[in-house]
Amino acid sequence: MAKRISMIDLFAGCGGMTSGFVAAKGYKPVMAVEWDLHAAATYAANFGESHTHWGDISDIEDREIPNADVIIGGPPCQGFSNLGTRDVNDPRNKLWKEYIRFVRHARPMVFVIENVDRFLKSSEFSLLQAEVRPGGLLEGYELTYGLLMAADYGAPQRRKRTIVIGSRIGKIPLPEPTHGQGNPLGLKSWRTVRDAFHGKQLLDVPAVKSLPDSTVSVFGKTVPGIYKSEDLHIGRTPTEISLLRYAHIPPGGGRFDLPEELLPNCWKNKPSGTTDVMGRMRWDEPSLTIRTEFYKPEKGQYLHPQWEPGQEGYRVDRPITHREAALLQTFPDTYLWCGTKIQIAKQIGNAVPTVLAEAIARHLKPYLLSAQ
Ligand SMILES: C[S@@+](CC[C@H](N)C(=O)[O-])C[C@H]1O[C@@H](n2cnc3c(N)ncnc32)[C@H](O)[C@@H]1O
Repeated sequence: MAKRISMIDLFAGCGGMTSGFVAAKGYKPVMAVEWDLHAAATYAANFGESHTHWGDISDIEDREIPNADVIIGGPPCQGFSNLGTRDVNDPRNKLWKEYIRFVRHARPMVFVIENVDRFLKSSEFSLLQAEVRPGGLLEGYELTYGLLMAADYGAPQRRKRTIVIGSRIGKIPLPEPTHGQGNPLGLKSWRTVRDAFHGKQLLDVPAVKSLPDSTVSVFGKTVPGIYKSEDLHIGRTPTEISLLRYAHIPPGGGRFDLPEELLPNCWKNKPSGTTDVMGRMRWDEPSLTIRTEFYKPEKGQYLHPQWEPGQEGYRVDRPITHREAALLQTFPDTYLWCGTKIQIAKQIGNAVPTVLAEAIARHLKPYLLSAQ
């Protein structure tokens, strides 16, 4: 049997990225670091508590860092100042310093960084590039990077993310897309919102408005959970004016479809920009990016896609539920969750779509196995 590829997930969140690597088979998590208790609890519920380190990455001592074949995860960027500074003592670079420290101690063959699309223009990225040059802290690693669209790798979501692959076993290209818009070049067609929700029991009016009343003990603390995916289909109580607004918005539409009298002042005074807000999804397209506040339609294109105009029209006038958001982020239905509604939404919105992580993991596997 082939040796398992050991991996460390830094800034692991609820484990979206690990979930994809584990689904790709052959990878074994040996450490995960996450300082948000509820996200760490979700990670632990799915992948085990013993290797999950709940706490600030800076508090982990060098001697506690295990060897690993792969490090995944990207430090959150603290502002994008574009200063291009190389000063690792700059407090903004603290988390990058930590990431680099882990790479230097674990000596992975490959590291994978996931980050927001603007990352490639950030000072943090300049710092990383400088460190792989001769004399740098990551000398010996070669970088490949680019913006990947999650829909091109099988996610029913147009989410663009920067992916950086650092390798000391020879330069590794980025994975090729498997899916495309309108089936170009014989690729599979982009998956849609309809595909994501298909075959699930997703009531138009969710039967409950809150998570079940249960708690679990993890890391010596008590947290809400453990919840199954089905528990996440939770309704809300929109105000009368919200319902009036939702009723005006067709699939693909948004705040510009609202009549003057239903516009809040903040939008009246902002006639252009923020085009996604109060948006309604389309059944036969991928969703737009699912962020951490997907339960607030005023924050993005989060209204349920079902909309038929007219008197007898059949509309579902509500934002997507946590369960639907998790499906658009391609979490498997077997995924377990811990935390409050708001905390779980944050975990879902912060995650890497698991199928994107899985595509990266499958792509890396032959390089890693042949170098072992
Ligand atoms: C974008 S999220 C990670 C998402 C994750 N890769 C996934 O796919 O689910 C970044 C995470 O870094 C964590 N984080 C930020 N600063 C940290 C620190 N100093 N130590 C440990 N975790 C930290 C945040 O709590 C957050 O969950």
